[in-house]
Amino acid sequence: MEPCVDGTLWMILTLIMTPLLNCNNFCPDICQCRSSGHIACSGHDAKDVLQQLTVHTYTLLLDKANMKILSERSLADKDLLLRFGLINSHLHTIHPLAFHAAPQLKSIKLTDNDLSTLPARVFSPLTVVEEIYLDGNQLEIIGPDMFEGLDGLLTLDLSRNKIRNLPSDIFHGLTNLIILNLGRNNIKKLPPTMFHSLTKLQMLRIYYNELEVLEAGIFDQLVNLKVLNLHHNQIKSLPPQVFWSLENLTDLTLSSNHLKDVPHKSFYNMPKLKKLTIYSNPLSSLPDDLMGHMPNITQFYLYDTKLPTVPGNLFANMSGLLELNLHLNDKLRYLPPDLFCCLPNLRKLSLRNNTLQDLHPNLFHTLTTLDILLLNDNKLKTLPEKIFQNLTLLVTINLKNNNLNTLPGDIFLSNTALKALSLSGNPWNCNCAIRGIAKWIRQNEHVVLDKDDVICHSPLYNLLRSLQSLPDDEFNFCDEKGKTSFFLTETNTYKHTQTPQYSSVTPTKKSTTLANTIVSSQSDEAPTVSHIFHDILVVEQGPAYVHHNIHNGWVYVWFLPSVSALVGSIMFCYILLLAMGLMLILGAIYGMYRLSTVMDKLKAECAHEEEHAVLSGLVHT
Ligand SMILES: *[C@@H]1O[C@H](CO)[C@@H](O)[C@H](O)[C@H]1NC(C)=O
Ligand SMILES: *[C@@H]1O[C@H](CO)[C@@H](O)[C@H](O)[C@H]1NC(C)=O
Ligand SMILES: *[C@@H]1O[C@H](CO)[C@@H](O)[C@H](O)[C@H]1NC(C)=O
Ligand SMILES: *[C@@H]1O[C@H](CO)[C@@H](O)[C@H](O)[C@H]1NC(C)=O
Ligand SMILES: *[C@@H]1O[C@H](CO)[C@@H](O)[C@H](O)[C@H]1NC(C)=O
Repeated sequence: MEPCVDGTLWMILTLIMTPLLNCNNFCPDICQCRSSGHIACSGHDAKDVLQQLTVHTYTLLLDKANMKILSERSLADKDLLLRFGLINSHLHTIHPLAFHAAPQLKSIKLTDNDLSTLPARVFSPLTVVEEIYLDGNQLEIIGPDMFEGLDGLLTLDLSRNKIRNLPSDIFHGLTNLIILNLGRNNIKKLPPTMFHSLTKLQMLRIYYNELEVLEAGIFDQLVNLKVLNLHHNQIKSLPPQVFWSLENLTDLTLSSNHLKDVPHKSFYNMPKLKKLTIYSNPLSSLPDDLMGHMPNITQFYLYDTKLPTVPGNLFANMSGLLELNLHLNDKLRYLPPDLFCCLPNLRKLSLRNNTLQDLHPNLFHTLTTLDILLLNDNKLKTLPEKIFQNLTLLVTINLKNNNLNTLPGDIFLSNTALKALSLSGNPWNCNCAIRGIAKWIRQNEHVVLDKDDVICHSPLYNLLRSLQSLPDDEFNFCDEKGKTSFFLTETNTYKHTQTPQYSSVTPTKKSTTLANTIVSSQSDEAPTVSHIFHDILVVEQGPAYVHHNIHNGWVYVWFLPSVSALVGSIMFCYILLLAMGLMLILGAIYGMYRLSTVMDKLKAECAHEEEHAVLSGLVHT
């Protein structure tokens, strides 16, 4: 049964059915009555309805009735009433014999009242009762024999109370119980044999309590359990094999506890598991053999831990995963190469907000069905060239906010479905190595969502230019990288060319009449003297300016940034000047404006004085 259903089931049922008065035509204004004998009433006067009820009412739900006491006679003469609810009504006292009058009741709902104690054995007359809801009260203590003999009980809800301790045999005898909710209480400890009779239990909720330990063997008899919620407690450790009897388990929540580690094989023998949460625990390591076969698990979250890494086979038995969220782990630096080996169905992988620095080249190779890959907010410095190979269905890659300087030019070559790539927030270094990826961005600009913010952080002359704005021919000088540092050809003037023909040129040594000295750009040694004059000097790192001192016979070489970069800085100065000019103009306009207002004021004052003078003149005459 779904959790949201059990609480409001009958309210919904009673509201949906065809509104028809029952045969006595009894239906007070504040109620909704159904032909099937359901009556739901709301409001202050609802408690009076209890007295006027006809014999044909099977279900009665009173809401906000302000009925503080359920007396010995409250339920008298209602032989056909099967389901009774009194909710939101400030009920604080139940007479010890209140239910003696209605032993046929199958369901009692006393949700959201002010009950702080219950009389001993108050429910004992209800031998056929199936549901008892006591959630949302102030109960602290529940007597050991409170539910004794209620072996037909299917649902017991004690959540949202103030229970600290429960007697160890309180649930003994509830052999048919299917749902037990103890969530949102102050339970610190549960006796190890507490649940041993509950062999039919399918749902056990103990979330939002103060449990510090789980006793070994506490769940051993719960062979039919499907849902076990233990999240938001203070559990520090798990006994080995504590969940091993739970072969029918589909949901296990252990998130937000104080677990530092988890014993070996803790999650073995859960072949039907669909949901497992262990996030928000201060985990510092996980064992190599943690997850047994759980082919039907589709989502797994592992975040907010202190794990520096995870075992390489952690997900090997989770072949059904569609979504894996291994993110927000502020110590997670390293992922083993085979970590994602066995996830043939994975659609979304989130590794964001970890502190990953390097990724193994084959890390993602088997994730051929991947659709979304989030790597943002890590410390990635570089990525291997083939890392995204095979990911042909990938639509989204987020690489924002890393330490990437550059990327291989063909890194996204096989990602033919790519539609949303984010690259901003990285310190891109726009030297030769950026050429390939800059070109790819230009050719695929519709794919790069934040292309205007993908910006060079270095070298200085390219600062703040966006990668997509770097024209390819600015990188032409890079082609020559690794060849001789400079070489000479014979002409009489220095010519700077944007696209020099470097390829097959080798230093030529035709003699000329002038003897000169050439300063090598590479060696710190004393200049080598050559008796050949070469006046074209082509230097490895791009355009250079050459100054020839005829008298001393020295050639000086200055290395300057590429012409376009120069254009960039000139452009910057230009914009700066323009901005200053604009500010001056605005300043001048403002000055003029101030001047004119002062003038106006003066004029007005003069006029006033004149007027005054005229008036006083008039008075005098
Ligand atoms: C629980 O599992 C056992 C076998 O492991 C099976 O016989 C039983 O029917 C299951 N119960 C439910 C409720 O699925
Ligand atoms: C996994 O789920 C499928 C379909 O929901 C079901 O047929 C199969 O029996 C489940 N496997 C296990 C081991 O529970
Ligand atoms: C997968 O689960 C099986 C048992 O269910 C176990 O024998 C095996 O060691 C597990 N594999 C890993 C990698 O944990
Ligand atoms: C992820 O990391 C970034 C940068 O470190 C941070 O600004 C952001 O708030 C983080 N996100 C979350 C949900 O913590
Ligand atoms: C993925 O790429 C590797 C080589 O990089 C290749 O050996 C492998 O067969 C490809 N396909 C899959 C499904 O791993």
